[in-house]
Amino acid sequence: MENTVCEPQKRALSCIQPTGIPTLGNYLGALRNWVAMQDEFECFYAVADLHAVTVKQEPAKLRQQIYEMFALLIAIGLDPEKSLLFVQSQVPQHAQLSWLLSCQTQFGELSRMTQFKDKSAKHADNINAGLFTYPALMAADILLYQPDYVPVGEDQKQHCELTRDLALRFNNRYSPTFTVPEPYIMKTGARVRSLQEPTKKMSKSDENQNAFISLKDDKDTIIRKFRRAVTDSDAKVCYAPGKDGVNNLMEIYSAITGKTNEQIEAEFDGKGYGDFKTAVGEAVAAELAPIQERFATLMGDKAQLEALMKTGAEHASYVANKTLKKVMKKMGFVI
Ligand code: TYM
Repeated sequence: MENTVCEPQKRALSCIQPTGIPTLGNYLGALRNWVAMQDEFECFYAVADLHAVTVKQEPAKLRQQIYEMFALLIAIGLDPEKSLLFVQSQVPQHAQLSWLLSCQTQFGELSRMTQFKDKSAKHADNINAGLFTYPALMAADILLYQPDYVPVGEDQKQHCELTRDLALRFNNRYSPTFTVPEPYIMKTGARVRSLQEPTKKMSKSDENQNAFISLKDDKDTIIRKFRRAVTDSDAKVCYAPGKDGVNNLMEIYSAITGKTNEQIEAEFDGKGYGDFKTAVGEAVAAELAPIQERFATLMGDKAQLEALMKTGAEHASYVANKTLKKVMKKMGFVI
Protein backbone atom coordinates (compact mmCIF):
# COMPACT_ATOMS: atom_id res chain seq x y z
CA MET A 1 0.00 0.00 0.00
CA GLU A 2 1.28 3.44 -0.83
CA ASN A 3 2.31 5.58 2.11
CA THR A 4 0.09 8.64 1.97
CA VAL A 5 1.04 10.01 5.40
CA CYS A 6 3.12 13.16 5.03
CA GLU A 7 5.00 12.80 8.30
CA PRO A 8 8.74 13.12 7.70
CA GLN A 9 10.70 9.93 8.24
CA LYS A 10 12.45 9.81 11.64
CA ARG A 11 16.23 9.78 11.60
CA ALA A 12 18.67 7.42 13.29
CA LEU A 13 22.43 7.76 13.63
CA SER A 14 25.11 5.61 15.14
CA CYS A 15 28.85 4.93 14.89
CA ILE A 16 31.33 2.20 15.74
CA GLN A 17 35.06 2.45 16.36
CA PRO A 18 37.35 0.57 13.97
CA THR A 19 39.36 -0.92 16.80
CA GLY A 20 39.56 -4.55 15.79
CA ILE A 21 36.86 -6.78 14.45
CA PRO A 22 33.69 -6.28 16.47
CA THR A 23 32.42 -8.83 18.91
CA LEU A 24 29.16 -10.61 19.24
CA GLY A 25 28.39 -7.90 21.83
CA ASN A 26 28.72 -5.11 19.26
CA TYR A 27 26.64 -7.16 16.86
CA LEU A 28 23.76 -8.06 19.17
CA GLY A 29 23.87 -4.79 21.12
CA ALA A 30 24.05 -2.42 18.20
CA LEU A 31 24.86 -3.52 14.67
CA ARG A 32 21.94 -5.89 14.22
CA ASN A 33 19.54 -3.14 15.22
CA TRP A 34 21.14 -0.81 12.71
CA VAL A 35 20.14 -3.23 9.97
CA ALA A 36 16.60 -3.58 11.30
CA MET A 37 16.18 0.20 11.48
CA GLN A 38 16.99 0.77 7.81
CA ASP A 39 13.46 0.15 6.62
CA GLU A 40 11.74 2.39 9.13
CA PHE A 41 14.18 5.27 9.54
CA GLU A 42 16.44 7.50 7.51
CA CYS A 43 19.76 6.13 8.77
CA PHE A 44 23.29 7.51 9.08
CA TYR A 45 26.03 5.07 10.14
CA ALA A 46 29.71 5.83 10.50
CA VAL A 47 33.05 4.26 11.25
CA ALA A 48 34.27 6.42 14.16
CA ASP A 49 37.98 6.41 13.31
CA LEU A 50 38.75 9.76 15.00
CA HIS A 51 37.63 8.19 18.29
CA ALA A 52 40.02 5.29 17.79
CA VAL A 53 43.14 7.46 18.14
CA THR A 54 42.31 8.37 21.75
CA VAL A 55 44.33 5.23 22.43
CA LYS A 56 47.62 4.40 20.66
CA GLN A 57 47.14 2.93 17.19
CA GLU A 58 49.63 1.51 14.74
CA PRO A 59 48.97 3.48 11.49
CA ALA A 60 49.00 0.59 8.97
CA LYS A 61 46.81 -1.50 11.26
CA LEU A 62 44.37 1.35 11.83
CA ARG A 63 44.02 1.91 8.07
CA GLN A 64 43.30 -1.79 7.52
CA GLN A 65 40.75 -1.78 10.34
CA ILE A 66 38.90 1.17 8.82
CA TYR A 67 38.50 -0.76 5.55
CA GLU A 68 37.46 -3.85 7.48
CA MET A 69 34.88 -2.09 9.59
CA PHE A 70 33.37 -0.35 6.57
CA ALA A 71 33.21 -3.68 4.71
CA LEU A 72 31.72 -5.36 7.73
CA LEU A 73 28.90 -2.83 7.97
CA ILE A 74 27.89 -3.74 4.43
CA ALA A 75 28.42 -7.46 5.09
CA ILE A 76 25.99 -7.46 8.04
CA GLY A 77 23.29 -6.08 5.76
CA LEU A 78 23.59 -2.29 5.72
CA ASP A 79 22.74 -1.16 2.23
CA PRO A 80 24.57 1.95 0.95
CA GLU A 81 21.55 2.63 -1.29
CA LYS A 82 19.25 2.82 1.73
CA SER A 83 21.49 4.18 4.51
CA LEU A 84 24.22 6.77 4.50
CA LEU A 85 27.44 4.93 5.33
CA PHE A 86 30.62 6.93 5.86
CA VAL A 87 33.95 7.26 7.61
CA GLN A 88 34.01 9.97 10.30
CA SER A 89 37.46 11.42 9.49
CA GLN A 90 36.41 12.01 5.87
CA VAL A 91 33.77 14.48 7.05
CA PRO A 92 35.68 17.43 8.58
CA GLN A 93 32.58 18.95 10.20
CA HIS A 94 32.82 16.35 13.02
CA ALA A 95 36.11 17.78 14.30
CA GLN A 96 34.86 21.34 13.80
CA LEU A 97 31.62 20.95 15.75
CA SER A 98 33.45 18.94 18.37
CA TRP A 99 35.57 21.98 19.24
CA LEU A 100 32.54 24.25 19.49
CA LEU A 101 30.72 21.75 21.71
CA SER A 102 33.72 21.13 23.92
CA CYS A 103 33.54 24.84 24.80
CA GLN A 104 29.98 24.20 26.08
CA THR A 105 30.97 21.11 28.09
CA GLN A 106 32.05 21.30 31.71
CA PHE A 107 35.16 19.66 33.13
CA GLY A 108 33.02 18.07 35.86
CA GLU A 109 30.68 16.46 33.32
CA LEU A 110 33.56 14.89 31.42
CA SER A 111 35.21 13.72 34.64
CA ARG A 112 32.11 11.71 35.52
CA MET A 113 32.13 9.63 32.33
CA THR A 114 32.58 5.95 33.17
CA GLN A 115 34.33 5.19 29.88
CA PHE A 116 36.93 7.91 30.59
CA LYS A 117 37.54 6.50 34.06
CA ASP A 118 37.86 2.92 32.72
CA LYS A 119 40.07 3.83 29.79
CA SER A 120 42.35 6.11 31.76
CA ALA A 121 42.85 3.35 34.33
CA LYS A 122 43.65 0.92 31.51
CA HIS A 123 45.98 3.26 29.57
CA ALA A 124 47.59 5.06 32.51
CA ASP A 125 50.60 5.99 30.33
CA ASN A 126 48.45 7.87 27.81
CA ILE A 127 45.66 9.85 29.46
CA ASN A 128 45.49 12.37 26.62
CA ALA A 129 43.13 15.33 26.20
CA GLY A 130 41.27 13.53 23.40
CA LEU A 131 40.36 10.68 25.73
CA PHE A 132 38.87 13.26 28.07
CA THR A 133 36.95 15.28 25.46
CA TYR A 134 35.82 12.15 23.56
CA PRO A 135 32.14 12.69 24.56
CA ALA A 136 32.11 16.14 22.92
CA LEU A 137 33.23 14.54 19.64
CA MET A 138 30.58 11.87 20.05
CA ALA A 139 27.97 14.58 20.65
CA ALA A 140 29.14 16.30 17.46
CA ASP A 141 28.85 13.02 15.50
CA ILE A 142 25.26 12.80 16.60
CA LEU A 143 24.01 16.38 16.60
CA LEU A 144 25.38 17.24 13.14
CA TYR A 145 22.75 14.95 11.59
CA GLN A 146 19.77 15.95 13.78
CA PRO A 147 18.72 12.35 14.48
CA ASP A 148 15.72 11.38 16.58
CA TYR A 149 17.29 8.10 17.73
CA VAL A 150 20.76 6.77 18.48
CA PRO A 151 20.84 2.94 18.48
CA VAL A 152 23.56 1.87 20.93
CA GLY A 153 24.32 -0.74 23.57
CA GLU A 154 23.84 -0.01 27.27
CA ASP A 155 27.48 1.14 27.75
CA GLN A 156 26.99 4.22 25.54
CA LYS A 157 23.89 5.47 27.35
CA GLN A 158 25.85 7.89 29.53
CA HIS A 159 27.46 9.52 26.47
CA CYS A 160 24.04 9.81 24.82
CA GLU A 161 22.68 11.52 27.92
CA LEU A 162 25.48 14.06 27.86
CA THR A 163 24.70 14.65 24.18
CA ARG A 164 21.10 15.40 25.10
CA ASP A 165 22.23 17.80 27.83
CA LEU A 166 24.52 19.62 25.39
CA ALA A 167 21.78 19.89 22.77
CA LEU A 168 19.34 21.32 25.31
CA ARG A 169 21.97 23.69 26.71
CA PHE A 170 22.80 25.03 23.25
CA ASN A 171 19.12 25.34 22.27
CA ASN A 172 18.36 27.26 25.46
CA ARG A 173 21.35 29.53 25.22
CA TYR A 174 21.17 30.44 21.52
CA SER A 175 17.71 29.30 20.19
CA PRO A 176 16.41 25.93 18.99
CA THR A 177 19.11 24.41 16.76
CA PHE A 178 19.53 20.73 17.56
CA THR A 179 17.05 17.87 17.65
CA VAL A 180 17.38 16.36 21.13
CA PRO A 181 18.02 12.67 20.35
CA GLU A 182 17.05 9.62 22.35
CA PRO A 183 19.21 6.54 22.88
CA TYR A 184 17.53 3.51 21.28
CA ILE A 185 18.49 0.44 23.30
CA MET A 186 17.05 -2.97 22.46
CA LYS A 187 16.11 -5.26 25.33
CA THR A 188 17.87 -8.38 24.08
CA GLY A 189 21.58 -8.10 23.51
CA ALA A 190 21.93 -4.65 25.08
CA ARG A 191 24.68 -5.90 27.35
CA VAL A 192 26.40 -9.05 26.19
CA ARG A 193 28.91 -10.11 28.84
CA SER A 194 32.32 -11.73 28.79
CA LEU A 195 32.29 -15.53 28.41
CA GLN A 196 35.05 -15.77 31.03
CA GLU A 197 33.98 -13.09 33.54
CA PRO A 198 30.23 -12.79 33.02
CA THR A 199 29.84 -9.74 35.25
CA LYS A 200 31.93 -7.66 32.79
CA LYS A 201 30.86 -6.56 29.29
CA MET A 202 32.14 -8.54 26.32
CA SER A 203 34.92 -6.42 24.85
CA LYS A 204 37.15 -6.84 21.80
CA SER A 205 40.09 -5.44 23.76
CA ASP A 206 39.95 -8.23 26.34
CA GLU A 207 43.34 -9.92 26.62
CA ASN A 208 41.69 -13.31 27.09
CA GLN A 209 40.66 -14.45 23.59
CA ASN A 210 38.18 -16.91 25.10
CA ALA A 211 36.24 -14.05 26.69
CA PHE A 212 34.75 -12.77 23.44
CA ILE A 213 33.43 -13.98 20.11
CA SER A 214 34.82 -11.99 17.21
CA LEU A 215 32.62 -11.69 14.13
CA LYS A 216 35.53 -13.27 12.24
CA ASP A 217 35.79 -16.42 14.40
CA ASP A 218 35.15 -19.63 12.46
CA LYS A 219 32.59 -22.23 13.53
CA ASP A 220 35.04 -24.45 15.45
CA THR A 221 36.47 -21.49 17.35
CA ILE A 222 33.00 -20.22 18.23
CA ILE A 223 31.86 -23.59 19.55
CA ARG A 224 35.13 -24.08 21.46
CA LYS A 225 34.81 -20.65 23.12
CA PHE A 226 31.21 -21.32 24.15
CA ARG A 227 32.13 -24.76 25.50
CA ARG A 228 34.76 -23.07 27.67
CA ALA A 229 32.36 -20.36 28.87
CA VAL A 230 32.26 -19.94 32.64
CA THR A 231 28.96 -21.14 34.17
CA ASP A 232 28.29 -22.64 37.64
CA SER A 233 28.05 -25.98 39.37
CA ASP A 234 24.26 -26.07 39.29
CA ALA A 235 24.05 -27.82 35.91
CA LYS A 236 20.51 -26.51 35.34
CA VAL A 237 19.69 -24.28 32.39
CA CYS A 238 17.50 -21.61 33.97
CA TYR A 239 17.53 -17.81 34.21
CA ALA A 240 18.07 -16.82 37.84
CA PRO A 241 19.85 -14.22 39.97
CA GLY A 242 23.47 -15.11 40.61
CA LYS A 243 23.72 -17.38 37.54
CA ASP A 244 25.55 -14.71 35.53
CA GLY A 245 27.29 -17.10 33.13
CA VAL A 246 24.15 -19.07 32.25
CA ASN A 247 22.03 -15.90 32.09
CA ASN A 248 24.48 -14.42 29.60
CA LEU A 249 24.38 -17.54 27.40
CA MET A 250 20.58 -17.59 27.58
CA GLU A 251 20.43 -13.94 26.55
CA ILE A 252 22.70 -14.60 23.59
CA TYR A 253 20.68 -17.67 22.55
CA SER A 254 17.45 -15.73 22.93
CA ALA A 255 18.75 -12.77 20.91
CA ILE A 256 19.75 -15.09 18.05
CA THR A 257 16.80 -17.51 18.00
CA GLY A 258 14.03 -15.24 19.29
CA LYS A 259 13.13 -17.88 21.92
CA THR A 260 11.94 -16.77 25.36
CA ASN A 261 13.66 -17.86 28.60
CA GLU A 262 10.80 -20.31 29.30
CA GLN A 263 11.20 -21.91 25.86
CA ILE A 264 14.96 -22.22 26.37
CA GLU A 265 14.51 -23.75 29.83
CA ALA A 266 12.04 -26.29 28.37
CA GLU A 267 14.37 -27.11 25.45
CA PHE A 268 17.25 -27.98 27.77
CA ASP A 269 15.25 -29.50 30.60
CA GLY A 270 17.13 -32.59 31.83
CA LYS A 271 20.14 -31.82 29.62
CA GLY A 272 23.53 -30.66 30.88
CA TYR A 273 25.42 -27.45 30.20
CA GLY A 274 27.49 -29.22 27.51
CA ASP A 275 24.49 -29.61 25.18
CA PHE A 276 23.32 -26.09 25.90
CA LYS A 277 26.71 -24.49 25.20
CA THR A 278 27.07 -26.41 21.93
CA ALA A 279 23.59 -25.30 20.85
CA VAL A 280 24.42 -21.64 21.59
CA GLY A 281 27.70 -21.97 19.67
CA GLU A 282 25.98 -23.54 16.67
CA ALA A 283 23.26 -20.89 16.57
CA VAL A 284 25.84 -18.09 16.70
CA ALA A 285 28.04 -19.74 14.04
CA ALA A 286 25.05 -20.16 11.70
CA GLU A 287 24.11 -16.49 12.11
CA LEU A 288 27.67 -15.31 11.38
CA ALA A 289 28.53 -17.61 8.43
CA PRO A 290 26.79 -15.61 5.65
CA ILE A 291 28.19 -12.34 7.07
CA GLN A 292 31.72 -13.75 6.96
CA GLU A 293 31.27 -14.84 3.35
CA ARG A 294 30.10 -11.39 2.21
CA PHE A 295 32.88 -9.73 4.22
CA ALA A 296 35.58 -11.77 2.41
CA THR A 297 34.17 -10.79 -0.99
CA LEU A 298 33.98 -7.08 -0.09
CA MET A 299 37.54 -7.00 1.25
CA GLY A 300 38.70 -8.34 -2.11
CA ASP A 301 37.76 -5.06 -3.84
CA LYS A 302 39.25 -2.08 -1.99
CA ALA A 303 38.62 0.27 -4.93
CA GLN A 304 34.90 -0.38 -4.62
CA LEU A 305 35.05 0.23 -0.85
CA GLU A 306 36.87 3.53 -1.42
CA ALA A 307 34.27 4.62 -3.98
CA LEU A 308 31.48 3.86 -1.51
CA MET A 309 33.32 5.75 1.25
CA LYS A 310 33.72 8.76 -1.01
CA THR A 311 30.05 8.93 -1.98
CA GLY A 312 29.02 8.46 1.66
CA ALA A 313 31.37 11.20 2.89
CA GLU A 314 30.13 13.66 0.25
CA HIS A 315 26.49 13.17 1.24
CA ALA A 316 27.25 13.22 4.95
CA SER A 317 29.31 16.38 4.59
CA TYR A 318 26.44 18.13 2.81
CA VAL A 319 24.03 17.36 5.66
CA ALA A 320 26.59 18.08 8.40
CA ASN A 321 27.59 21.40 6.91
CA LYS A 322 24.06 22.76 7.15
CA THR A 323 24.05 22.17 10.93
CA LEU A 324 27.59 23.42 11.40
CA LYS A 325 26.89 26.70 9.58
CA LYS A 326 23.77 27.26 11.67
CA VAL A 327 25.72 26.68 14.88
CA MET A 328 28.58 28.97 13.85
CA LYS A 329 26.23 31.73 12.86
CA LYS A 330 24.37 31.55 16.17
CA MET A 331 27.61 31.60 18.13
CA GLY A 332 28.70 34.81 16.38
CA PHE A 333 31.21 33.63 13.79
CA VAL A 334 31.46 35.37 10.43
CA ILE A 335 30.41 32.73 7.91
P1 TYM B 1 32.02 0.97 20.29
O1 TYM B 1 32.78 1.07 19.02
O2 TYM B 1 32.76 0.57 21.52
O3 TYM B 1 30.81 -0.04 20.15
C1 TYM B 1 29.88 0.03 19.05
C2 TYM B 1 28.49 -0.31 19.56
O4 TYM B 1 28.46 -1.60 20.17
C3 TYM B 1 27.85 -1.53 21.45
N1 TYM B 1 28.49 -2.54 22.34
C4 TYM B 1 27.81 -3.49 23.03
N2 TYM B 1 26.51 -3.78 23.10
C5 TYM B 1 26.14 -4.83 23.89
N3 TYM B 1 27.01 -5.60 24.59
C6 TYM B 1 28.34 -5.34 24.55
N4 TYM B 1 29.19 -6.12 25.22
C7 TYM B 1 28.80 -4.24 23.74
N5 TYM B 1 30.02 -3.72 23.45
C8 TYM B 1 29.81 -2.67 22.61
C9 TYM B 1 28.14 -0.12 21.92
O5 TYM B 1 27.20 0.31 22.88
C10 TYM B 1 28.00 0.67 20.63
O6 TYM B 1 26.65 0.99 20.38
N6 TYM B 1 31.63 5.81 21.51
C11 TYM B 1 31.09 4.74 20.67
C12 TYM B 1 31.22 5.02 19.19
C13 TYM B 1 30.60 6.29 18.76
C14 TYM B 1 29.21 6.58 18.67
C15 TYM B 1 29.12 7.89 18.15
C16 TYM B 1 28.06 5.82 18.93
C17 TYM B 1 31.28 7.40 18.36
N7 TYM B 1 30.39 8.36 17.97
C18 TYM B 1 27.86 8.49 17.91
C19 TYM B 1 26.81 6.42 18.69
C20 TYM B 1 26.74 7.73 18.19
C21 TYM B 1 31.88 3.47 20.98
O7 TYM B 1 32.99 3.50 21.43
O8 TYM B 1 31.24 2.33 20.56
